[in-house]
Amino acid sequence: MGGEAAKWILMTTARTPTNIAVIKYWGKRDETLILPINDSISVTLDPTHLCTTTTVSVSPSFDQDRMWLNGKEISLQGGRFQSCLREIRARAQDVEDKKKGVHIKKEDWQNLRLHIASHNNFPTAAGLASSAAGLACLVFSLAKLMNLKEDNSQLSAIARQGSGSACRSLYGGFVKWDMGKEDNGSDSLAIQLADEKHWDELVIIIAVVSARQKETSSTSGMRDTVESSALIQHRAKEVVPKRIVQMEEAIRNRDFPSFVRLTCTDSNQFHAVCLDTYPPIFYMNDTSHRIISGVEKWNRAEGTPQVAYTFDAGPNAVMIARNRKTAALLLQRLLYNFPPHTDTDLDSYIIGDKSILKDAGIKDMKDVEALTPPPEVKDNIPYAQKSKGDVSYFICTRPGGGPVVLSDETQALLGPLTGLPK
Ligand code: DP6
Repeated sequence: MGGEAAKWILMTTARTPTNIAVIKYWGKRDETLILPINDSISVTLDPTHLCTTTTVSVSPSFDQDRMWLNGKEISLQGGRFQSCLREIRARAQDVEDKKKGVHIKKEDWQNLRLHIASHNNFPTAAGLASSAAGLACLVFSLAKLMNLKEDNSQLSAIARQGSGSACRSLYGGFVKWDMGKEDNGSDSLAIQLADEKHWDELVIIIAVVSARQKETSSTSGMRDTVESSALIQHRAKEVVPKRIVQMEEAIRNRDFPSFVRLTCTDSNQFHAVCLDTYPPIFYMNDTSHRIISGVEKWNRAEGTPQVAYTFDAGPNAVMIARNRKTAALLLQRLLYNFPPHTDTDLDSYIIGDKSILKDAGIKDMKDVEALTPPPEVKDNIPYAQKSKGDVSYFICTRPGGGPVVLSDETQALLGPLTGLPK
């Protein structure tokens, strides 16, 4: 280790997206290594709207590994954090910073301590997959700081040990997590099926649904499912392998009707195995069910699917529209059915890519109030009913790119002289 006294600090900042599974991961065959019982496929969400930024730093003056999440210090003692740190340190290489006069030899990394600060650009309490982006960003930024030679697919096998779904956040676009066969998990990693430009017409609208009760975590939920559900084995062995092949083909051919059918049926089956778990797990609520019915009714009325829906371990709906025009029509329908509270400002009710609002011809609350019931529900009163307050807000986004290093030092979350959160 070189450098003057013990004063230097080296740091790296990176940004990593979150992802939504269209063929779900649910169930592990190894709890410690986080090895799944089936392959899964996801769409990466545009990091402009949903991402984690992480700054990692190293200095001989740090006396312990420390981490801050959204400004608050959190413990790094958990087994999953420790697995990621151990796996990365084991692969660290020599690092030289001539300007600072620093030379770290690969064996030095075992004795150097780290400071890590992480921030989500979306509300952490929203029940969106913040752990996927967070763990992927931790692994990616540490790999850059420590000069790892591994590619993103090999890094995904480390992120997987932090949280399964995190491995799919190492790439943009459309990503497959191959479950692998090896007992040591070396072949259980993510690969990119296509980048975000391959199918750039798609528009994603997320309804952040107000949840009253605390949900069962994915980790304990899937453990209970594997222990008690008779359907999960059928799903993992018979259903998912076929759907994976079909979904890869649908993505390759930009075949929207097949993409919709596979996405919706797989989400529904995931929630069916949750219901088949004993005691049963309910992630969706009445609002989620109303959204499904509304989309199904519209898709049927059009004769060809317009929108796919999918739900993770919570009531939030992720809807994927075939293009901007359809997304604008979807937003009109959603705002008609789930208008904001009178005192809510439209600008904070629709976040992300607000240009979809303009396409939908909605400038202010008067335009929302003037919306008429969509034609497919006119004669169906329950679904034409308006319910204020059931949705907290909507996020408009699209498929997006993978992790990037942010070289602009002003974006670092840690002070360059203190190594503490700014
Ligand atoms: C429903 O990745 O959160 O979102 O591996 O235990 O950390 P752990 O679970 P996690 O589970 C995600 C489950 C899901 C489906 C998916 O993302 O594929």
